[in-house]
Amino acid sequence: MQPSMSLGNRDYISLNINDSIINSTITSKSLWRQWNQLSRFQRNVIYFIVLTILLITFYFLPGNTKNSILDSETDYDNGQVVQDTPKATKLAEELVLVDSNDNGNQAGGGGGGGEGGGQVIEEPEFPPDINQIDDEQIGEPPQPKPNILKFNGPQNDRQKAVVAAFKHSWDGYVKYAWGHDNIKPISKGYHEWFGLGLSIVDALDTMYMMGLNEEFIRARTWVDENLKFDVNRDVNLFEVTIRVLGGLLSIYHLSGDKVFLDKAVDLGDRMMPAFSTRSGVPFSDVNLGTKSAHSPKWGPDSSTSEVTSIQLEFRDLSRSTGQSRFETAVAKVSEHVHNLEKYDGLVPIFINANTGLFRDHATITLGARGDSYYEYLLKQWLQTGKTLDYLRNDYTLGIYGTQKHLVRRTAKNKFLFIAELIGVSRDMKPKMDHLTCYLAGTLALGVHHGLLAEHMDLAKELTTTCYQTYAIQPTFLAPEITYFNVQENDDDNINQMDMYVKSTDAHNLLRPEFIESLYYMWYFTGNKTYQDWGWQIFQGFEQHTKVENGYTSIGDVRNPHNTRPRDMTESFWYAETLKYLYLLFDDTRQLIDLDRWIFNSEGHPLPIYES
Ligand SMILES: *[C@@H]1O[C@H](CO)[C@@H](O)[C@H](O)[C@H]1NC(C)=O
Repeated sequence: MQPSMSLGNRDYISLNINDSIINSTITSKSLWRQWNQLSRFQRNVIYFIVLTILLITFYFLPGNTKNSILDSETDYDNGQVVQDTPKATKLAEELVLVDSNDNGNQAGGGGGGGEGGGQVIEEPEFPPDINQIDDEQIGEPPQPKPNILKFNGPQNDRQKAVVAAFKHSWDGYVKYAWGHDNIKPISKGYHEWFGLGLSIVDALDTMYMMGLNEEFIRARTWVDENLKFDVNRDVNLFEVTIRVLGGLLSIYHLSGDKVFLDKAVDLGDRMMPAFSTRSGVPFSDVNLGTKSAHSPKWGPDSSTSEVTSIQLEFRDLSRSTGQSRFETAVAKVSEHVHNLEKYDGLVPIFINANTGLFRDHATITLGARGDSYYEYLLKQWLQTGKTLDYLRNDYTLGIYGTQKHLVRRTAKNKFLFIAELIGVSRDMKPKMDHLTCYLAGTLALGVHHGLLAEHMDLAKELTTTCYQTYAIQPTFLAPEITYFNVQENDDDNINQMDMYVKSTDAHNLLRPEFIESLYYMWYFTGNKTYQDWGWQIFQGFEQHTKVENGYTSIGDVRNPHNTRPRDMTESFWYAETLKYLYLLFDDTRQLIDLDRWIFNSEGHPLPIYES
């Protein structure tokens, strides 16, 4: 019974095929007759249309050809565009321990391996080689496979306490400031800076890492439905890049959710006009709605750290979308600054976007407006798989210059600090911004990746000093700026102390830089002292900045009885301070694998590429 049925089926099919062949023969005959009846003009029009369709098809089919041609024209990788000044290069190479063979191995290890942190990587077979093109998506730009990570929430009491602090702070934001940039937790109001829901975007990856799923999904929905960039308002290119672009890209890579990438592309497009300057050095401000850019209101210059701390984000946007123009624009800035003359690798803090030159006699500091220039040299070198030597050389030179010109010690206890150089004569000013405390972590990261081991000594001493800036205050919180006493032979009372604070500098904005460094120091050394120091500081935040609806900046760390609360929660509290505390208390040191990820300047992890 069965064989005969199948035989019948076959007959039926073959009949069908014959039918369709006959049908199509008839159709083509009548088409040919109609063709012959057309006028010459009509036929020419049809020829033209067919040709146009063919041309369009050929243009789009190879998909990435256009990009790769552009890439090779602007290749900064092969040393054609970038020319190190011979003297600087030689010095830098003497300072660097890594040889090029070692280089390749390390890059490979960082890119493909990541054995250490394997436990939480959901799909470790995903190579972070974003240059891989997905064959199934012909006609679309190459889509990277996101390095999706899964997190299991707090694992110990300290992590639980940090998550509780986040939740307390977040609940206030949700209740009183939802969708606005910042909460004012005392007046139960909000503060608008750029009008981009800064706290939400900055907090996304922190919530994701802490396992706060409900909060995360709510924030994700807000981003999807309410985050709009076509607003006629000037924003600061650097701040929006590290907080919003960096935040979106980071959570895109961690979660694999393409909603975040789409938002990032829209934002990146709107910021591109900032680079339309004569030198390529971007203007500091850009209007996302009108897409026009200009210098800041306070003067003609951009901050050096700002124009040199947007590269990780724009490069990642290019790698994530296959659109090279973002990376091309920011790489040009780095190469330009690389070719400027420096003071033993140190840079003045202002640069003119039109002339492309440093403001000669501007302050030299590793604090405000200078800090992340040095940080992004190292991190860009790591992001690109240690393939761009000029970045490593400039970083190493910068640290050399720091050691030569800026490292000083207090008279009494010989605490090491990083001073500033002021004005034409480059006078030493014995003050250090809290911001400078990021440097210890960056130095440790560099040493882990093969740079001079002696940088670790500097990192450890700076960590100790920064800890002191917290520990000597009765609130156990550091001020914004600390001054140091370097006078050896002085009987003056004030000089009996190593450190002092001016009234105008006594505020604490819930800043993250020292917690960030403690995390790196803990990660690379496993020395529990760094965890304990972080715990003490966390208690300081708990006791002196916690209010009914969150945590607030305070005006005076010197007086626990009158801290002068400022009624403000900066978005980096969510993005960095609480995230780094959470990571610092991760006893496994495996939540984020620092051979596979680099944190941007706002604490948002981005993947490391092979080149
Ligand atoms: C851990 O770090 C602290 C602070 O720098 C230091 O005093 C201590 O000696 C270190 N412990 C070890 C075992 O290295």
